[in-house]
Amino acid sequence: MMDRRRFVAGGAAALGAAALPLERGPGRSWPAGPGAVRVLPRAAADDARMAWWREARFGLFLHWGLYSILAGEYLGRSDYAEWIRYEAHIPVGTYRRLAARFNPVKFDADQWVAMAKDAGMKYVTITTKHHDGFCLFDNRLTEFCVRATPYRRDVMRQMADACRGAGLTPCWYHSIMDWNHPDYVPRRDWEAATRRLDGASYTRFVRYLHGSVEQLLKDYGDIGVLWFDGNWEQTWTHELGRALYQACRGFQPSVIVNNRLEGWSQAPITDPLGDFRTPEQEVPATGWPGVDWESCITMNDHWGYNAHDHNFKSLAQLVGLLVETASKGGNLLLNVGPKADGTFPDESVDRLAAMGRWMQVNGEAIYGTSASLFANASFRSTTKGKRLYLFFTGWPNGAVRLPGLTTRIRRAWLLARPDLHATVLVPDSGGQALMLPLPAPDPVCSVVVLDFDETPAVQAADTSG
Ligand code: GLC
Repeated sequence: MMDRRRFVAGGAAALGAAALPLERGPGRSWPAGPGAVRVLPRAAADDARMAWWREARFGLFLHWGLYSILAGEYLGRSDYAEWIRYEAHIPVGTYRRLAARFNPVKFDADQWVAMAKDAGMKYVTITTKHHDGFCLFDNRLTEFCVRATPYRRDVMRQMADACRGAGLTPCWYHSIMDWNHPDYVPRRDWEAATRRLDGASYTRFVRYLHGSVEQLLKDYGDIGVLWFDGNWEQTWTHELGRALYQACRGFQPSVIVNNRLEGWSQAPITDPLGDFRTPEQEVPATGWPGVDWESCITMNDHWGYNAHDHNFKSLAQLVGLLVETASKGGNLLLNVGPKADGTFPDESVDRLAAMGRWMQVNGEAIYGTSASLFANASFRSTTKGKRLYLFFTGWPNGAVRLPGLTTRIRRAWLLARPDLHATVLVPDSGGQALMLPLPAPDPVCSVVVLDFDETPAVQAADTSG
């Protein structure tokens, strides 16, 4: 019999390029390299507003909604997740009836937030409304929300309170695209019969969007980030994006807003919007100096819960992603798709705990750091004041060259074992190198700290011999 996991993974991969229409997902034509990313002018006020987020480096993304009830399955297919209504062509009435089944009896916001905190995360970004249009908060402007479910209780209220209680920052994901609202256009051909266009007014929809965002930013205290999505349909213009950005800052002057409210455009956007960019399922090859960014990445192959997807990344891969984003100067927003009963999949629970154990020892090398100074080293690294952190996944037992490092090292030691020092070698040919003490302190990734008397400098071209 064919291995089910491989079948599901293969099916998803096969779907990837061919079957997914262009409009699925945030325009894949988004800037891919640093050349394509224009630096937003940074004002001192923006620096102050962005400070906590730049310090945080690591957050939890949560995709939870009515789709979680279906767990990725519909009429014999099982490779869906939060796009299930769209991909399985579920009539809007049928989908709406899922609200009667939303009753996450095991949901405990404090427990979710504790898992994020123990993992070393500093903020939690949760879906207040995904593309399906269902609101997990008590939205006064629609009946299609948690109020109309057996559960009734406002999920955002509980998350905001739990985050604050634990010292984490609550952040809201909110989709512009809306497959439920009667005024949202465009519609899909396949829903013409069940969801009529009669009288739809996009202007009214935009008013609904603003009214929803107003509640999210006024009724739950200080919110760290408004994380928009679903901005890639032609009805959404750049002017609407600019107005939405201004509205958010008007409701809460210190809120940070991501870039996925830029208008749909065929030509490259010359006037970027938002405070940070959002590479999805990837870490940009070289990072983007001068630009704030956050990579959002799934733990397995779906954002929303899929009961058949057990293709979880290993601890080494996840730590590797966190180290990679930090070493390139970005944040990592790592996703969990909770189940309909309000629990996290076991694999996610285990991985969050394991990342927490790593962060407990090595977090100092991640929080508040900036990108690696090394252009061509064999290791990743981060920078903080008069310190450099070097990350080793394999533990070298010969000398490690530090290409281009011109500042003299005062002390080199192991973050996990401050009593263990590395020997600094100064070869006749110039430059500096390290001999590390054996064995590696951590099986997946060990950190070496370099202390200096001044801010360290690394020359781009390796002249260290
Ligand atoms: C895309 C997907 C969406 C997911 C998001 C996360 O926009 O449409 O399902 O929420 O990426 O970045």
